[in-house]
Amino acid sequence: MLKDIFIGLSQNQFLNSAAKKYGLKLGAQNVVAGTNIEETIESIKELNAHGISCTVDNLGEFVFKEEEATEAKEQILKVIEAIHQEKVDAHISLKPTQLGLDIDYEFCLNNLREIVDKANQYNIFINFDMEDYGHLQPSFDLLDELSTEYNNIGTVIQAYFYRAEEDIQKYKNYRLRIVKGAYKEPEQYAYQDKSEIDANFIKLIEYHLLNGKFTSIATHDHNIINHVKEFVKKNDIPNDKFEFQMLYGFRKDMQLKLAKEGYNFCTYVPFGKDWYGYFMRRLAERPQNLNLVVKQVFNK
Ligand code: FDA
Repeated sequence: MLKDIFIGLSQNQFLNSAAKKYGLKLGAQNVVAGTNIEETIESIKELNAHGISCTVDNLGEFVFKEEEATEAKEQILKVIEAIHQEKVDAHISLKPTQLGLDIDYEFCLNNLREIVDKANQYNIFINFDMEDYGHLQPSFDLLDELSTEYNNIGTVIQAYFYRAEEDIQKYKNYRLRIVKGAYKEPEQYAYQDKSEIDANFIKLIEYHLLNGKFTSIATHDHNIINHVKEFVKKNDIPNDKFEFQMLYGFRKDMQLKLAKEGYNFCTYVPFGKDWYGYFMRRLAERPQNLNLVVKQVFNK
């Protein structure tokens, strides 16, 4: 119920543009690394100092104008330059819709090509985040086209989709992030039941780990993490073949602990003014995340 409310709120364009004007509010500052590149690089340096690498996301939703997509592209190019100049351990996560997928496919492809090309020059990896079902196939198409020119790209497999198993087989030679899935999807395309999603999540993780390609296991779920720890031990999968990923600001103690235990750990670091949709999806996933809001209200 609460999940549906927050997902609904995350899709509200009016609230999204209102939120953009008012800076990081409602506790979002606990889960967003900064509003600009300089602040974000400082946050990355702090995480790097603990042996944690980062994947940086320039927040942005509801992009339906070419100028906005071009602005997002320029910003991401600046982040790539900053990662290179500052020599931080970080790569990029991006959303195709932010680069113009809802405007024009070729326009989006060209924006992505520019980003991937620059990152390639600096040996920086680019992850294509996956959004809702409507954008899934076009995002894979973009990846397919750019893969004929570059190999510094990878994507996300969302375990709630019935088609995820087929997709992971098709993309078995890619570096992949595997997640449960964050959007509200109809029964026609996606498992609804938590236990079915979890079971498929584990199945996909194990498949890709056994494949030998680099796997990013992106979850805050300690049960899944413990299962993966056992699985890699039992199957002699070396630590350099996988990493755990969590979102900035969530389960900080566990992030540090996993890094200390010697696992590769990567924190997803969102930044920018367009925090509203991202923050609402986090509240939808786990309404307890409302404590971030409460803490803020009580100025803790
Ligand atoms: P889930 O929310 O299912 O929680 C399982 C259990 O873990 C809980 O019952 C609780 O016990 C524990 N737990 C979870 N969060 C906790 C917390 N904060 N504190 C204490 N205990 C907690 N989605 C997508 O569709 N496309 C994408 O590209 C991405 N990218 C992405 C990157 C990264 C780095 C992450 C971590 C996640 C994504 N996601 C995503 C989101 C993902 O699909 C999913 O919605 C969330 O990670 C929530 O699912 P979890 O597996 O984290 O645990």
